Order: sequence, then C-alpha cells, then structure tokens
Amino acid sequence: MNFRGRDIISIKDFSKEEINYILNYSKKMVSYAKGEGHIEKLKGKVLSSLFFEPSTRTRLSFESAMNRLGGRVIGFADPTATSQKKGESLSDTIRMADAYSDAIVIRHPQEGAARLAAEFADIPILNAGDGAGRHPTQCLLDLFTIITEKKKIEKQKVILLGDLKYGRTVHSLAYALSLYGAELIFVSPETLKMPKEVVNECKELGTEPHSTSNLEKAIKDADVLYATRIQKERFPDAEEYNRVVGTYKIDNHLLKNANDKLIVMHPLPRVTEIDPEVDRTHHALYFKQAFNGVPVRMALLSLVTGEKI
Ligand code: CP
Repeated sequence: MNFRGRDIISIKDFSKEEINYILNYSKKMVSYAKGEGHIEKLKGKVLSSLFFEPSTRTRLSFESAMNRLGGRVIGFADPTATSQKKGESLSDTIRMADAYSDAIVIRHPQEGAARLAAEFADIPILNAGDGAGRHPTQCLLDLFTIITEKKKIEKQKVILLGDLKYGRTVHSLAYALSLYGAELIFVSPETLKMPKEVVNECKELGTEPHSTSNLEKAIKDADVLYATRIQKERFPDAEEYNRVVGTYKIDNHLLKNANDKLIVMHPLPRVTEIDPEVDRTHHALYFKQAFNGVPVRMALLSLVTGEKI
C-alpha cells in the first residue's frame, strides 16, 4: 500500500483496509515513540507545524513524532506572531510552508481549512483539526487505542458522550466506528446532539446509533465510554454554554455501575467532565490514549513522506 504524497484531511478519505494498514504500521512505532529504539528515517526532512488554534497533545505529539523519526520541525503555535497579522491569506501561508518543508500539519478554527490548504500545497497536508469539522489523526489514535486494549472494534459497545454537535473528534470517530461495525450510543445534552449528517453517515455504513440521556444505564454493558469536553469556544452564545456545562460528570460513583472492562477515553483536554479520582482506576485510558498519538503520527509522517521502516 502506498501513501506517499497523500493528504490526511478526513478519515472518510480512507478505506477500512487502508486504516488497518496504518494501525498495524503504528504498532511498529510504539517502542521508538517511547524512546526505546532509534531511527533516523526522516533525517533531512522538515515538517511545518502550523497551529492557528491552541493545542497541547496534537502539536506536541506531531513534533515528538517528527523528532523521534530524526526529522526537524518549523512552524508556529501563535498565529498573531506571523504575517497573518499583516493580512496574509491562508493560501499564501501554505505556499510558503510548501516551499520550506516536506509535509505540513495544520490546525485551524475554520472547517474546510485543511482541504483548502491541500489545494495550495504539493506536499502532504495533515489535518490537525479544522473547526467543528474533522480530526482524522485523533480518530486514528482513538481506533489504535481501542484495538490495542480490546483486540477488536467490531461489536464493541461505544458510548460517545458530551458535545456531539461541535466535537470534531466524535464526528470522525462515529464514522470510523461504523465502518468497523461497532455499536454506537450517543449521550449528550439535547442542544448538543450529533449532527444529522454524521448520523446518516453511520446509517449508510449499516450502523443504527441509539441516543439516550441516561448515562448510568448505558454504562452497565458498555465497552468504551468516550467522553468529550463541552467546548466553550465553539458556542455562539455564552448563556447557552452555561446551561449545558456540567450536565455529565464521570466519577467513581458513576463507575460503580459500569461493566468492569469498561475503558474511559477522552481526547483531552478535560475540564470538569472527568473527576481526577477516575485517573487512579483501571477504567482510565485517556493518558495512554494521548501517548498513542506519537506512534500513530510517526506512522503517518513516515507513510506520507514515503520513508517507511
Ligand atoms: N486531543 C486534542 O486534539 O488535544 P489538543 O487540543 O491539546 O491538541
């Protein structure tokens, strides 16, 4: 399978066979991601890291991935310190990064920005999140986490919880889980329900998601609880945010009713939706999940630049 030069814009651009290939390839990267081995496959290569929105995990794990592969990183995490501040367009910024590097990772507040960037670059574009749109590399690391912990994705009962309206991670994940034949349960405040477009995508793949507001009941036989933050920054109205924030909270009291094998995942950052007391339980997988960003992004960088190990 050849991924050289390929853009990673949406998980929907990939077949199940291609996703399986990436997940298998990511396994080979785990020990290098931990610093237990040394590879220099991307020595001499440069990654442009263009973050127009805040990030901790995605940016640092991409940068760690590139460094672990022997490559180098240029870029910015504060767009106000770039010529965007002087009025430069996104397309011109992308043309510059295209001239200076071998791949571009971009996070942008506007949905569709990564797809637009791909039109102006010859080198691969990796979408690190575009507004409320998609977050394909997060989706791949989420799948990698589930498959590593549960050995399969098919028939896993997965609850997607929280901000399903604006949450780009759950949009990508709902599609991908449907592709693998997982069972989906959506739990959210009424005003933050999964968009119809995403529900229809799941149905087209043969998955009929169930919706409920009763989290306590849903976790009794769930295999995965995937929580998301209610994203204040995506709300057009602060009052609307205040009405829904804190609707759901995962704590040890709630988990008393859970299936013993339940894993709790979260793309992070969390705010109030997971009590820190959960961190010490065997259910907590979110920090391991965040680490998995490194091997998965190493695999992607290696594949799109055509420098496989
Ligand atoms: N999961 C995730 O996208 O985290 P960051 O916003 O910190 O990159």
